Amino acid sequence: MRITIVGCGSIGTKLAMAADEMAEVKRIYLADVEAGLAEELASKLKKAIVVEDVEEELYHCDLVIEAASQDAAREIMPKVVARGVDIMILSVGALVDDAFRESVFTKAKECEARIYIPSGAVCGTDGLRSSAVGELEEVELITVKSPVSLSGVEYVIHNNIDVEKLEEPTVLFSGSAREAVQAFPRNINVAATVSLLGVGFDRTKVTIVADPTTHSNSHELRIKGEFGEMTCHTYNVPSPDNPKTSYLAAMSAFSALKRIARNEWIGI
Ligand SMILES: NC(=O)c1ccc[n+]([C@@H]2O[C@H](COP(=O)([O-])OP(=O)(O)OC[C@H]3O[C@@H](n4cnc5c(N)ncnc54)[C@H](O)[C@@H]3O)[C@@H](O)[C@H]2O)c1
Repeated sequence: MRITIVGCGSIGTKLAMAADEMAEVKRIYLADVEAGLAEELASKLKKAIVVEDVEEELYHCDLVIEAASQDAAREIMPKVVARGVDIMILSVGALVDDAFRESVFTKAKECEARIYIPSGAVCGTDGLRSSAVGELEEVELITVKSPVSLSGVEYVIHNNIDVEKLEEPTVLFSGSAREAVQAFPRNINVAATVSLLGVGFDRTKVTIVADPTTHSNSHELRIKGEFGEMTCHTYNVPSPDNPKTSYLAAMSAFSALKRIARNEWIGI
């Protein structure tokens, strides 16, 4: 299979290096807006070449993997699915816009393109997916992050919160997943994934806590419904090259790629 990876940062790099070792992957196309990044990564790989225009290469590509930004996801998703090419999205927050999401999902169906959204940095999505076929009363996500992973976030700056100076765990945000994804576009993609699987962006509750005593990005997913109750806690190690991103997110993208390439669906 031939894959295109859009975004050669923390996740894109780990994924490309892992894909380079997969027998099923014959060619890896790499793209990044930042000059030199895709070239540098390609120079370390056996199967990779750099592409300037992702759209032009779609004729040769079986799967596009977006690991860049919400803007990138919004830009490439419609083009990729309209060509009938499958796409995996990491910047899931891009799907918070209902009109955009519905149009892209409809187009994908029409054009027989698959949309893959890995579980990313959160665990418990398997149980949520299963339980969502029945009635769900409540879905709540409580995310605790170190201040370093929240510094520079517009919402934090706008509300005059100096996360670096916090001395105790502090609730920065409490509200719907829709508001959370918009306020923290690079930090809370998991809220979007959970919303899409469960009760939607407006009914999913999100709390974001900055904790100066932690080094992990943790997510507690609480679900209550017809099936019973579930609490799933994930303590993520941040990626050394990007503290905003949990290492598990890159692992989940690689694991999704393996399942797609091998057509083996265990625990789906
Ligand atoms: N689903 C999840 O659970 C989850 C978890 C962590 C991160 N993410 C998201 O995944 C994405 C990638 O994360 P990361 O840690 O690798 O980020 P990163 O900042 O380390 O890397 C992103 C790369 O994408 C490039 N880029 C940005 N816009 C681009 C565009 N339009 N076209 C091509 N390249 C572009 C940047 O130059 C950068 O090199 C982010 O949007 C992040 O929020 C999702």
